[in-house]
Amino acid sequence: MRSDAIGALDPELSLLIDRLPKVELHVHLEGTLEPELAFRLALRNGIALPFASVEEMRAAYEFSDLQSFLNVYYAACAVLVAREDFRDLTRAYLARAHADGVRHVEPFFDPQTHTERGIPIADVIGGILDGLAEGEREYGITSGLILSFLRHLPVEAADAELAAAEPWLDRIVAVGLDSSEIGFPPEPFAGTFARARSLGLRTVAHAGEEADASLVARTIDALEVSRIDHGVRAADDPTVMRLLVEAGVTLTACPNSNVRLRVFPSMEGSTIRTLLDAGVAVTINSDDPAYFGGYIGDNYRGITAGLDLQAADLHRLAANAINGSFATAARKQELLAELALAIAG
Ligand code: HPA
Ligand code: ZN
Repeated sequence: MRSDAIGALDPELSLLIDRLPKVELHVHLEGTLEPELAFRLALRNGIALPFASVEEMRAAYEFSDLQSFLNVYYAACAVLVAREDFRDLTRAYLARAHADGVRHVEPFFDPQTHTERGIPIADVIGGILDGLAEGEREYGITSGLILSFLRHLPVEAADAELAAAEPWLDRIVAVGLDSSEIGFPPEPFAGTFARARSLGLRTVAHAGEEADASLVARTIDALEVSRIDHGVRAADDPTVMRLLVEAGVTLTACPNSNVRLRVFPSMEGSTIRTLLDAGVAVTINSDDPAYFGGYIGDNYRGITAGLDLQAADLHRLAANAINGSFATAARKQELLAELALAIAG
């Protein structure tokens, strides 16, 4: 059934979105730090936040572009100090994800944001793995952790971080590349990504969020990634969309993030319809939900209303996320079966 007007969400589609077994492939754990938890951790760790209240902190989340967001996001990470802080952060995200019907998640974490402040990598990874294990026991959410490098830092720092993470590599599924896109090209990281692959890790990278479609093609070329995070600018170039289809590369789009960081003026301006029509394996994700006003369900609802998506589109988006994940073949089969039931109603 079609919605009456662009921008209004059909109640049946809303119920279908609630039922979808969701797989989240693009969420930064640091980006799930809600102001309430930030204040709790600030008190616990004796750290002063530059805001008088939770309300004031949330009200400050007005961004003009990616960099204006990253400045706030990195500063808030100062409250994450002890192993239990990383566990609490991860648990809080999983509770919200569970409420949204997430069954499997592959979250990013940025170790350099914390090791640069003197936090031992063992506490960062240990706390996150504690939280993921507890979340799996409590909610049945399976996961694959992604260690992401900050591209604004030198490649030598990424190499050092990969070496420091060696004791935990059997618990990490992939490496990623994030932070400021413009002025920080992917090519210098080719050696780091090749080394990660030789260690048995998968690879993904942010591209085509702020920069144009050519950066998506260059990133696939240089880093041989399985997924491009964001990548929505690929829609501007049919050649790049064909490359994504032929190479079987999944895109992890984040509709709320794109509007809040002014990649697009509104949901109606998103390129996701164009990507779907070209056969690109695009997926829906939340990126930094504490900052962009909603978790994965909210992103599904917003883009469905904005682009007048139909049940068949939602089926494809959810299936793309299952198929594009690094879950085991058996887990993918389970999730695809659950998706078929959700679609059948
Ligand atoms: N882009 C780049 N780096 C990031 C993002 C993002 O959307 N979120 C957290 N780090
Ligand atoms: Zn991101």
